[in-house]
Amino acid sequence: MASRYHKVYESWQNDPEGFWASAAENIDWVKPADKIFDPDAGVYGHWFAGATCNTCYNCLDRHVAGGRAGQLALIHDSPITGTQKKFTYAELLEDVAAFAAVLQDLGVTRGDRVIVYMPMIPEAAIAMLACARIGAIHSVVFGGFAANELATRIDDAAPKAILSASCGIEPGRVIAYKPLLDKAIELSTAKPQACVIYQREQALASMIEGRDHDWAALLDAAKADGKRAECVTVAATDPLYILYTSGTTGEPKGVVRDNGGHMVALYWSMKNLYGVEPGEVYWAASDVGWVVGHSYIVYAPLLHGNTSILFEGKPVGTPDAGVFWRIISEHKVAAMFTAPTAFRAIKQIDPKGEFIEKYDLSNFRTLFLAGERADPDTLLWAEKHLKVPVIDHWWQTETGWCIAGNPVGLGALPVKHGSPCVPMPGYEIHILDDNNRQVEAGKIGAISLKLPLPPSCMPTLWNADARFREAYLEEFPGYYKTADAGYLDAEGYVYVMSRTDDIINVAGHRLSTGAMEEVVAAHPDVAECAVVGIADQIKGQIPAGFIVLSAGVNRPTEEIESEVIALVREKIGPVAAFKLVMAVPRLPKTRSGKILRGTMRCIADGEDYKTPATIDDPVILDEIAQVLEGRGYPG
Ligand code: COA
Ligand code: AMP
Repeated sequence: MASRYHKVYESWQNDPEGFWASAAENIDWVKPADKIFDPDAGVYGHWFAGATCNTCYNCLDRHVAGGRAGQLALIHDSPITGTQKKFTYAELLEDVAAFAAVLQDLGVTRGDRVIVYMPMIPEAAIAMLACARIGAIHSVVFGGFAANELATRIDDAAPKAILSASCGIEPGRVIAYKPLLDKAIELSTAKPQACVIYQREQALASMIEGRDHDWAALLDAAKADGKRAECVTVAATDPLYILYTSGTTGEPKGVVRDNGGHMVALYWSMKNLYGVEPGEVYWAASDVGWVVGHSYIVYAPLLHGNTSILFEGKPVGTPDAGVFWRIISEHKVAAMFTAPTAFRAIKQIDPKGEFIEKYDLSNFRTLFLAGERADPDTLLWAEKHLKVPVIDHWWQTETGWCIAGNPVGLGALPVKHGSPCVPMPGYEIHILDDNNRQVEAGKIGAISLKLPLPPSCMPTLWNADARFREAYLEEFPGYYKTADAGYLDAEGYVYVMSRTDDIINVAGHRLSTGAMEEVVAAHPDVAECAVVGIADQIKGQIPAGFIVLSAGVNRPTEEIESEVIALVREKIGPVAAFKLVMAVPRLPKTRSGKILRGTMRCIADGEDYKTPATIDDPVILDEIAQVLEGRGYPG
């Protein structure tokens, strides 16, 4: 089928407001918008100004009323615990409405923040939807972050309540969440009034009298009393959630997502980009702590009337490298979305794709990859063995949905390996040089998005309009700075090559090396340090720490290196995957004192580099290469 993409994109270009007004007809509004786009509201404008709505209503109530009550809404498939739990739309609505009443009883009202620090259990989705139902703003914090990171988010969001579980389960170990939560609350100044803890049998949490409540006890009581929160009407421009993401400094940025634009863009994406029909099974193998989990485990599939899978496991080892295919086959998944790192992990264990042969994948139509650059090897392997289109698409926490992709629902465009394809309606991609001028096709520059951003993209940072302007809008006036570098080819395909800041992507997880440097530098024996992202076969990138010890330190170097590793794990969390630290005599710098991190990365990755003309002492590069060689780099 010829793709309708160009026609649809052109229709958006000709009439952006008309395009989104028509997309908005798929959403049930309490009151429709006065203005589809109000350029004078907020920092760069607001979508669906004057409209009122409720996101939970659109995810659940309207489907129950409209004939999907008995259809599965959510399947929790947890190979790590050996359990499965299924919820129809009616059952999910029942739990969400009752839990929303629990939150109201705890004093949570419209506009209050609620932090959700949970593993991949259905209660995480229930928590998010219950907040949406009563107009509270959730902020989900990924379970792999340490107490310190959680505390930073508590202080910024100042939540009235925190929802958590007694533990998360990783292969071979149970992680007690409650001690981390207690420590985070102790470290923070903005103390929540209440915590609701879901007790899992693998590790029971001890509760603090007066503050902590048992999830199941409150939910059961609310149900027994027939309590059920009705949907609270909010403005389309009110925040649905805040999601903290790594920024260019150690302080995470609170990305705000509004209610109205988010629903419109996500709904549009399900059919047009992912090519699924309501009623089909959609699976995003991510975590609710990341934006992919927010958009494509919880909100988009439910808005669109699909069945969503919440997967608690790993692509390998739970129990084997066939778990993805077992799930696709057993639940009849039509489209799957994950990060390339998951496929690299599978490919390493099952290079011939033998596990794939064991399962009936006849319902499976498309694999979507995002979160990091999809290397052609991985794409080719997946295409060859799965025998379905493998679609790379590019997006960011800040946008909440795809910036550039291959819109399968509109008719797929030819795939070019190495490119996540073309901009979605709403996005005008320009490649700019340092003087804010567009560069010609094929030339690398700063990938920038012409303002205004489309619906679902963040309107601002939580309580930080000035930081939002400074971080994203000031460098290239009239544009949003993606902080990705790349190019457009002559056919308008975009190529995303690298970040222009200190962000690295480790196993699809977005991390700041600057934040890691802050922690490493705090070790008393470290005089100075640099953390750079170096290539890793499975995780794409991993952080490598280079430390220069303070004068007079005469303890064994290995001891200090281990302490530094432990410090990052304690302060940022295991998700940082910070396991490589090397003491070096000196760090390479320019004469003005700028550490040459890029050159160090090239040495570690075995890439060609030019010794910068401004280098202070080129011999230091040889010293670095020698230390890296001792650790097996380049590999
Ligand atoms: N709670 C607590 N700890 C967690 C955690 C969580 N929710 N998630 C990860 N961790 C821990 C891991 O156990 C690991 O700890 P370790 O250092 O003791 O081994 C550490 O954080 C690093 O995790 P990760 O980088 O994910 O490595 P991994 O070896 O556990 O798994 C992959 C590697 C590739 C299998 C896994 O990252 C994956 O499946 N990724 C693809 C899907 C995805 O999540 N994408 C994100 C955005 S789409
Ligand atoms: P996150 O906010 O965690 O989604 O990470 C966003 C960043 O991940 C982007 O700015 C890119 O650097 C990278 N990224 C995401 N998807 C892709 C992709 N398909 N190709 C290349 N890089 C990607």
